[in-house]
Amino acid sequence: MTEEIVKSALSKVTYPGFTKDIVAFGFVKEIKIEGKNVSVLVDITSSAPEVAQQITHEATDELKLAGFSDVIINVQSPKMPRESSSKGKNIAPQVKNFIMVSSGKGGVGKSTTSVNLAVALAMQGKKVGLLDADIYGPNIPRMMGIDGIKPEVVGNKVLPIKAYGVEVMSMGSLMEEGQSLIWRGAMIMKAIEQFLRDILWSDLDCLVIDMPPGTGDAQLTLAQSVPVTVGVTVTTPQMVALDDSRRSLDMFKKLHIPIAGVVENMSGFIAPDTGVEYDIFGKGTSEAMAKQFDTTILAQIPIEPSIRTGGDEGKPVAYYAPTSETAKRYMKAAEDLWATIEKINADGGVDNQAIQPNTPPGVSACSTAAAPAPKASSGESCGTGCGHH
Ligand SMILES: Nc1ncnc2c1ncn2[C@@H]1O[C@H](COP(=O)(O)OP(=O)(O)O)[C@@H](O)[C@H]1O
Ligand SMILES: [Mg+2]
Repeated sequence: MTEEIVKSALSKVTYPGFTKDIVAFGFVKEIKIEGKNVSVLVDITSSAPEVAQQITHEATDELKLAGFSDVIINVQSPKMPRESSSKGKNIAPQVKNFIMVSSGKGGVGKSTTSVNLAVALAMQGKKVGLLDADIYGPNIPRMMGIDGIKPEVVGNKVLPIKAYGVEVMSMGSLMEEGQSLIWRGAMIMKAIEQFLRDILWSDLDCLVIDMPPGTGDAQLTLAQSVPVTVGVTVTTPQMVALDDSRRSLDMFKKLHIPIAGVVENMSGFIAPDTGVEYDIFGKGTSEAMAKQFDTTILAQIPIEPSIRTGGDEGKPVAYYAPTSETAKRYMKAAEDLWATIEKINADGGVDNQAIQPNTPPGVSACSTAAAPAPKASSGESCGTGCGHH
């Protein structure tokens, strides 16, 4: 009896709620074999007792099938609920995890990715919110099929609108149709804060946040207002898009936001008639960039007409065509994203203390005019990653 036999038996045990097995997740920590006796230590990230029970049960069955007679499975799980162990400032404390979806430029599929990841996470049983923080170009209402629906106001707070099991809020739902607003920096910051504080989000497992393109006031304000658990960067495969995406990844680093991965969107084209996949913008080009930032490709999403029509008609592909290749890729990305979130929380969570502004309340930490004079020695960083000082 060897360790390989044990591992191959345990690789048949999937982690409850996921398609990946406990060996692939790296949860199997210690294997001791003595003749036909085996003991295994499994270290998991969930504190739910039923998860430990199911793993013990299935692992015992698989090892007995593999020929062991005496099997001891020791499942180690975090003592405290580890749904979120984040620290620092949080103006929406009923939300356990925040997922910031960013990109270097517009039109790469950030909103499409946010919608489909949110819907996929909800389909996987999570309590999910979707915040359209792209106040310049709020597209989420149309993509979620709630275009024209006005939210209910309760006192001086606003109820999110429900669609596909997801709680949604967008500037598009608050403004009159077709209206445009010209935003100054301070107004953007106020809007982001109100989206977090004055919307009656339920106790959510996670809030997916569709950001405006680029790396500006909205990103900085969000990161300072809530501890962002993970960042996701959406890119298309062309080199010019990748250049911008590097800036988005670099922003996550500066804001101390763990990067969950890169979504390479419009990666190849699947012909609807033949199912044959063609390269249009290239494919796999974001791999090197992901490596450079110590992260991975979360998904490669092909150009598919149903993604565009799904967006225009408010019928997300993850929900309406769950058997399509694209929907499967979104579902897999959502699973991997959640596993990353659980791991981050198990490892102590995130903390946004280091990026708090040291400017008076209400003044932009990123505005050079309003920023305080550098401390003692000049050239010291304000710690916000604003790039000015
Ligand atoms: N993989 C894809 N295949 C086909 N159309 C797509 C795909 N991803 C996005 N689109 C379409 O491209 C347009 C831009 O996408 P969007 O998500 O709005 O980008 P962003 O939010 O980054 O500006 C939308 O019309 C959307 O439906
Ligand atoms: Mg958008």
